[in-house]
Parts: sequence; C-alpha cells; structure tokens
Amino acid sequence: MVETIQWTADGVVMIDQTKLPLQEVFVTCRTHAEVAEAIRSMVIRGAPAIGVAAAMGVALGVEALTGPDEARFASICRSLAETRPTAVNLFWAIDRMKRLWESLRGRPLAEIRARMAAEAQLIRLEDIAINQAIGRHGADLVPDGKTVLTHCNACALATAGYGTALGVIRAAVAAGKQVDVFADETRPFLQGARLTVWELQQDGIPATLITDNMAGHFLKSGRIGCVVVGADRVAANGDVANKVGTYSLAVLAKENGVPFYVAAPVSTLDLTLPSGDQIPIEQRAAREVTHVFGVQVAPHATRVENPAFDVTPNRYVTAIVTERGVARAPFEDSLRRLAE
Ligand code: MRU
Repeated sequence: MVETIQWTADGVVMIDQTKLPLQEVFVTCRTHAEVAEAIRSMVIRGAPAIGVAAAMGVALGVEALTGPDEARFASICRSLAETRPTAVNLFWAIDRMKRLWESLRGRPLAEIRARMAAEAQLIRLEDIAINQAIGRHGADLVPDGKTVLTHCNACALATAGYGTALGVIRAAVAAGKQVDVFADETRPFLQGARLTVWELQQDGIPATLITDNMAGHFLKSGRIGCVVVGADRVAANGDVANKVGTYSLAVLAKENGVPFYVAAPVSTLDLTLPSGDQIPIEQRAAREVTHVFGVQVAPHATRVENPAFDVTPNRYVTAIVTERGVARAPFEDSLRRLAE
C-alpha cells in the first residue's frame, strides 16, 4: 500500500498527489511553511491526511525554535490552520498539538521537540488503525457481488493509510465479498480518475472509471449496490461536507433506493456545529475549472465558481461509519453517543 506521508530524519516526506498517476514523485518538507504550502497546493489532500500533515508541520516548526516562544508557536499553528478551511481534521490535529505544547510548559526544549515529533507520528499511526476499524464496522454494509460507487478519493492517499471509504471496501474484499468499484472522475481536480483508480489498480480491486454526470444513469440501472464516500466535516445533525458532487450523488442514490454510506473517523465530527449550514466551504482557483492538466478548455475570461465541497443533508445519509461503530438517524443522538 502507498505511503502517503512519513516523518523522516530529513523532514516530512509525502507522495506528490498533484503528479499522480503519471509520475510517482516524493517531496520532502523541511519547514512548517513548506508543509503549509503542500497542503494548500494539494500535494497532500484528504481530510485525515491533511490532519497528519498539519501535526507534522507543527512538530517541524517546534524543531526549529530556539526557545519556548509562545508567539512563534501560535504563528506556526496559525499558518497551518489557514491552509484549507473545510476539513475539520486539520483543526483537530493542530488543537491536539497545542494541548501537548501547553502541557509541556516549563520542560526543556529538547524534550518538547521530541514529544511534539512523537505525537505527530502517533497521530499518523492512530489514523491507520482507525481506518482499519472503520473498515471492520463497514464491511457488513457492502453487498456481495454488487458494485460500489465512490466519489473523490477517500482511500489510503487521503489518510495516513488504508483509507476510509476504501477501508470499508478493502475490509469487505478481505471478508471474501466480490466487490467491483465505480469511481467518479471527480472534476475539477480529478481525484477519482487520478488517485482512486490508481489505488484500486494497485490493490487488485476491480475498478471502472465513470465521469461524474454518468452516476445517475448507473444508479438507476440497478447495478450499484451502495455508495460509499468519505467526509471532510460532519455536523451534529449528520449533515456531511464532502467533495463537491457528493450531494447530487446522495440525492440520486435516495431516488433510486440505493444506500448512501459515509465513512469517517470521529475526528471528522464537528459537534459544535448544529447543522451543515455552518460548515465553511473552500472556494478554489478558477484555473482548476478552466484548465485540465494545464490545457485551457474554456474561453478566455470565463466567469467561474469553484466550491471544493458541498453539504449533503442528513436525510440522504443511510449511515455514518466510524471507528467506534455505525451511526444512523436520528444522528444528533447516535453521533453524540459515538463521540463521548
Ligand atoms: O479536496 P480534497 O481532495 O482534499 O477533498 C477530499 C475529499 O473530499 C475526501 O472525500 C474527504 O477528505 C475524505 S478523505 C478520507
């Protein structure tokens, strides 16, 4: 399985997800600013993966400190928090690193550096174990001998390893089920075409690529047994922010009686928000829409909207699979119980 991100003696090493699948290039970030830029430019992406990257960025920033400088530490955390607004795992990981920093006040700098680095590596390892647990809880939901439709990339590359949505699929395959995956290409960044299909091929799981606008056709055909996607933030009422296009998929799934599952760790729950209306939606550059791999596909001066995420209302969500179990409606109760 691909290594998304690693802490090494040289720095934080990531596979460059902007170059896949045509090139397998690894980049080494040596400063917290380089990690922040890697998150912003989507060298690393996916909610759990950017949480791990942010934690490692904080640890790199602390390594470079010459003393326990509170103002400098706050500025390191701020620069990482300002990279992408929607995935709550980013803020969850930075908050965890902040709590550790506070608990180490008065300790020698060498100890603080070592503990921060160890914590970031622990977050990475925990994420892999969490995804395996999500897989165990979700495998039963996947029908045998049917096709699973997924959107974006909620696979190993979007996490520290194993994946959330792909974790569920992997666990179903490991349990002996025949699973075929349909991957939406996921315009404009093409995470489905470039990353999900690449990962499924590496794992020997049968994969078929479709364009986003074909999803309704296949959901109506009876071939799709369920939809499984990841999430960037889940509000207290079970509304789910995920890659733009998820909402239309969920509506089409319900219309056609196909179960719609969301696989996400508890760190993706944001129970401080009563509903998805309060989730900030990242707006990305127009060029991602007007150009494909650097080739212009729209006229000059085209007006563009490019929201990176949308919010699926909870009424379209059949269940949310976490590492602690499966939540179903009413989500206010089931999610709160899982988060306790
Ligand atoms: O813009 P991206 O590629 O970071 O968006 C990623 C997604 O929307 C994923 O589905 C989500 O983060 C879940 S990843 C396990």
